[in-house]
Amino acid sequence: MTQDTRWPSHGGQAAPLLTRFGLPCDHPLLDFSTNLNPLGAPDWVPSCLAAAAKGLERYPTPDYRLAREAIAREAGVSLEQVLLTNGGAEAIFLVAAAHAGGQAVIVQPTFTEYARACRAFAIAIDDVCLTPPDFSLDPARLAVSLDRGTLLFLCRPNNPTATLLPRETIEALLTLAALRGSRVVIDEAFIDFVTPFDESLAPLLARFDNLILLRSLTKLYALPGLRMGYLLASASLVRELQACQPPWSVNHLAAELVTPLLADGAFQARTRQWLSGEHPRLQAGLAAKGLEVIPSRANFFLVRPPLETVVGSAQTASAALFERLLRAGILARHTHGFPGLDGDWLRLALREGDANTRLLAALSEERTA
Ligand SMILES: Cc1ncc(COP(=O)(O)O)c(C=O)c1O
Repeated sequence: MTQDTRWPSHGGQAAPLLTRFGLPCDHPLLDFSTNLNPLGAPDWVPSCLAAAAKGLERYPTPDYRLAREAIAREAGVSLEQVLLTNGGAEAIFLVAAAHAGGQAVIVQPTFTEYARACRAFAIAIDDVCLTPPDFSLDPARLAVSLDRGTLLFLCRPNNPTATLLPRETIEALLTLAALRGSRVVIDEAFIDFVTPFDESLAPLLARFDNLILLRSLTKLYALPGLRMGYLLASASLVRELQACQPPWSVNHLAAELVTPLLADGAFQARTRQWLSGEHPRLQAGLAAKGLEVIPSRANFFLVRPPLETVVGSAQTASAALFERLLRAGILARHTHGFPGLDGDWLRLALREGDANTRLLAALSEERTA
């Protein structure tokens, strides 16, 4: 599908939108379009980076052993099952590179980089489109699409719907895919924000050697500029994927930070506390403003205004809501470019208490306007 170029392709890109709606570039904005932990990075990060900077004079150790050991311990897998990557994004592109010229099934609507990576490596794409309100997936639906060598891309919890495919569905898909000789790629970039907090599929790696789990450290630790991620798979699959990775792909500063970040239990506990309080409050608050809200299992919400809200305008209800929120200082994430959503929905991040309250207040003004 073609992306409407008037809309930026990712969240956090306010400048083109301000220009488009005739607003000044210093228009004050609260960013609800990116899904980062609003607590920000742990406060010891800058001093740790400053100390690690001494090591910039050397190449990173090519196997990133210490970082991988910390990840393996946390995920309950062996060292050989871990590949450190330059953000979750590199993990996606490595998987595509290793399957160049093949075919993939992408369960839509989802993160647009799976399709972009497939296109970059001439992988033929078959989209399977799930529909609101529950975006449920019957594994039997994939029976015809999965073939020897096919890659199946899933995101869990899914960006942008915030839905979580049940573990039983995943196990059924993995079993079906194993029978067909295909591999299942599951992106867990937002798994740290799912309650209860034990939803990762890492334990399934012991049973399924056709499973590739993609992880990002960007979201939980609010460090998108550093580029930290990893993938987990069987040892032989990790070797296959590593063969496609440029040498020293992960910079020294990012690699040095992995172990202390994973060990910061206090930060993780604070994040969980914020999430447990704010998530149900915003979910209920958005619904109380008359929005249709997809029940969220992640740190963001997919919402749609009631369809009757725009009368006599060429603009859709969600485009009108997007613009009014922008004028009120709230940057939402549009959904143009997501198959099946096509701009009719908006994605709103869960932020800290005050910001969420301001979002709800802006929606109240919006209703009385
Ligand atoms: C589902 C999903 N996976 C992966 C990524 C990329 O993460 P990273 O910043 O670690 O490359 C994103 C970024 O938005 C995402 O939404």
